[in-house]
Amino acid sequence: MSSQLIKNIGQLITNSDKDLGIVENCAIAIENGLISWIGTNASAPAADSMFDAKNGVVTPGFVDSHTHAVFAGDRHKDYVARMAGTKYQSGGIKTTVTATRNASDEELIRSTKAIVDRAIASGTTTIEIKSGYGLDIETEAKILKVAQQFTTETTFLGAHVIPAEFIDNRDEYVSLVKGAMLEECAPYAKWIDVFCDQSAFTVDEAREIISAGVAKGLRGRIHGNQLADTGGADLAAELKLASVDHCTHVSDKTIEKLSDAGVVATLLPGAEFFTKSKYPDAQRYLNAGITVALASDCNPGSSFMTSMPVVMALAIREMNMTPAQALYAATKGGAKALQREDIGHLNLGAKADLVIWDAPTFEHIPYRMGEVDCQTFVGKTLN
Ligand code: NIG
Ligand code: FE
Repeated sequence: MSSQLIKNIGQLITNSDKDLGIVENCAIAIENGLISWIGTNASAPAADSMFDAKNGVVTPGFVDSHTHAVFAGDRHKDYVARMAGTKYQSGGIKTTVTATRNASDEELIRSTKAIVDRAIASGTTTIEIKSGYGLDIETEAKILKVAQQFTTETTFLGAHVIPAEFIDNRDEYVSLVKGAMLEECAPYAKWIDVFCDQSAFTVDEAREIISAGVAKGLRGRIHGNQLADTGGADLAAELKLASVDHCTHVSDKTIEKLSDAGVVATLLPGAEFFTKSKYPDAQRYLNAGITVALASDCNPGSSFMTSMPVVMALAIREMNMTPAQALYAATKGGAKALQREDIGHLNLGAKADLVIWDAPTFEHIPYRMGEVDCQTFVGKTLN
């Protein structure tokens, strides 16, 4: 049994079912990693240790529900070209595939740790990590084993693009992904994902691959409608997937389908920023009653960043979200996208998976665009 007290919290963001559920000027007690009490500073119970939040904000840890954090090399030349106006195409993924195939486990563990450490330093306490830069059995499994060292939220994305060696034989690659590759990778993955878009996989291919993964016990999610509306979001609604990620080019009809099917729309403003693309309007989803999640999409080609405060700032500036909606989407929205009930909120009985910010209000988190110091507190220890 161990107990902690966090005193002098200026704003506690608890996240109710519909809003931030803010409690002002309070203290919380934590017993065995769970929030056991919320009340005034004056009535706080005794505890084994005490932390003074100095009137700062306490939020749930960020849930970054979409990253491609295991890869080798970088693509800074692509970045320079895109900033000069060259359109993003998925072809660059193959450069990262070659580098990742050639990287050792140790190299991948080291580079992934550097990324995850930066994410934690900016308030992320849960991170999803996909494969997808291997595109052969051995490398896809290698990536997932590395990812598993950092998170339980691992995703098999063997269907990222068709690798060069199968370019004239895509049916064979689809068979490989849903057959032998899935067989080898499923033990290391919780999720299955397909990049269903222009110059990636078709709706029919995505349906086959995701269904094969689900039959193996994996849960389905999809990259859809990033580059064009090729039907990925409609498929997410048809298969009732947990989330459609990117979801940039969608019709009103598709939004209705997503809402009816209870699919989360995971928006990735880093991808629009780094590819100089048009941002989606988050209010279209929110007005339709869809849960919006915000995530970093951390990857070397279209969003080389991990900071959720920066993701929030972009979503507020460019996707028409309020700061409150952005914070909710970056915490509870991400938890819903990962079908996790135990994270993303700080109500009584919840896991003390929280972040203490050196800022007087939650709006300062995006307002200061990643420049507010914070400490993550997961379970028993302050980092
Ligand atoms: O989510 N859209 C597909 N995959 C990544 C990009 C990967 C890359 O360009 O390396 C994304 O943006
Ligand atoms: Fe992605």
